Amino acid sequence: MEAEGKLSPVLGDMEKEEFRRFGHQLIDWIADYFEHIEDRPVLAQIEPGDLKAQLPVVPPEKGEAMQDIIADVNRLIVPALTHWSHPSFFAYFATSTSAPGIFGELLSAAFDNKAMLWRTSPASTELEEVTLDWLRQMMGLDAGYSGIIYDTASVSSMHAIAAAREGVELRIREEGMSGRKDLPLLRVYISEQAHSSIEKGVITLGLGQKGLRKIPTDAEFRMDPRALAEAIEEDKRNGYVPFCIVATVGTTSTSSIDPVAEIIPICEKYAMWLHVDAAYAGSAAVVPELRHILNGCERADSVAVNPHKWLFTPFDLSVLYCRHLDLLRRAFSLVPEYLRTPEQEQVRSGSDYGIQLGRRFRALKLWMVIRYFGHEGLAARIREHCRLAKLFASWVEESPDWELMAPVPLALVCFRARPVIEAESEAARNGRWDVLNEAIMHGVNATGRALLSHTKLNDKLTLRLSIGNIRTTEKHVRQVWDLLNEQLKLLRKDS
Ligand SMILES: Cc1ncc(COP(=O)(O)O)c(C=O)c1O
Repeated sequence: MEAEGKLSPVLGDMEKEEFRRFGHQLIDWIADYFEHIEDRPVLAQIEPGDLKAQLPVVPPEKGEAMQDIIADVNRLIVPALTHWSHPSFFAYFATSTSAPGIFGELLSAAFDNKAMLWRTSPASTELEEVTLDWLRQMMGLDAGYSGIIYDTASVSSMHAIAAAREGVELRIREEGMSGRKDLPLLRVYISEQAHSSIEKGVITLGLGQKGLRKIPTDAEFRMDPRALAEAIEEDKRNGYVPFCIVATVGTTSTSSIDPVAEIIPICEKYAMWLHVDAAYAGSAAVVPELRHILNGCERADSVAVNPHKWLFTPFDLSVLYCRHLDLLRRAFSLVPEYLRTPEQEQVRSGSDYGIQLGRRFRALKLWMVIRYFGHEGLAARIREHCRLAKLFASWVEESPDWELMAPVPLALVCFRARPVIEAESEAARNGRWDVLNEAIMHGVNATGRALLSHTKLNDKLTLRLSIGNIRTTEKHVRQVWDLLNEQLKLLRKDS
């Protein structure tokens, strides 16, 4: 950014010529950022507090020149970033933004609509309905589902559980839960592998951690339907009210897929709500040959999916598909006089379906992403990620020094180094492998050339390689495999 800039004017916004100049320069800056992103370390190479120590503790009294602000983005902010857009970002669930998504985000910042009512942003309200219906069709979900956008899957799933609770007809909206002697213990069921956000949602809704029961999983980390049915029976005998099951399609640790089709009859037998947390894996259903991962969802009550995870849409954008928007509305709609409009009976008001009043115009970026890549283009990219994950998994399987720790249904590989180690017991050997794998992961991450994360499976430290970035190619996957093997060699020499 080398253009000279003025200080901010006394009143009004930045002058239009200056806006134009810096706007163009920033787009160039972003294009360069992507072009040279591989020169940067994936993981921020700073210590806690480093950035704060370089920032003034008091706000500027007078406006500053834009080029000085941008210079500080380069000097201070960029080095403190962990680069999620780096093609060798393989940690957590690898995600990425995309050019059409960035343009959508830019425009929505310019429009700055608060889509709480249809009239405060007809475009946002109507585009959201249309775009989510496109995505529904691409995922092969039936037309009984209507979608609504929230920021994150944590919030989508919390709203699904709130709607399920509303359906129990215990007047919780009106009378609350505290101080009521007439309320039985309400229970939600998840697998031991479910995401912590479900537990947080249950806590937020006042159901308490006691209101959540975790069901064991099978050898492939999928919810055990028999154990689920037994748990519900036991709870009913104890006078509890089981009202909601949350199945996960694509768990966070291993991307395992709960057997939704087998869970459905249990839900139906006990008249419970079935919510499917497909935050990560739901996007994969746009690939026709992977659509089966949502088998059973034709009888679920709600499904959460995050286009911000694996559909090349900038954070944040999560979708809740729900068959009973009426219950969601009953749980959350509250319209003060100042928000009443003549058309309110004809249109959807986003604020009726959640705790937020104002809502960002998130649908715009998803609409632009879907239009730009098309269904085929999105499917091709996700298919390629799955191919790369299977390729990496095949190297792990073929090597005597490494082993797979879980099946690879999609684009996440769980594995560990398992070289021959002398030890007095299996437990001691596993302990040493844990130490070794942790050191390998930190060693790879410290190079700045790739980023991996870990989990524990059956109490064993497990490395995770997640492929989900739009720029990741076979070259990057080979590089991280080489890095892992280099670290293993180094650490073996040291031990
Ligand atoms: C299965 C699953 N559910 C929910 C979440 C939470 O997602 P969010 O950050 O959108 O709340 C995650 C995050 O990785 C996840 O993997």
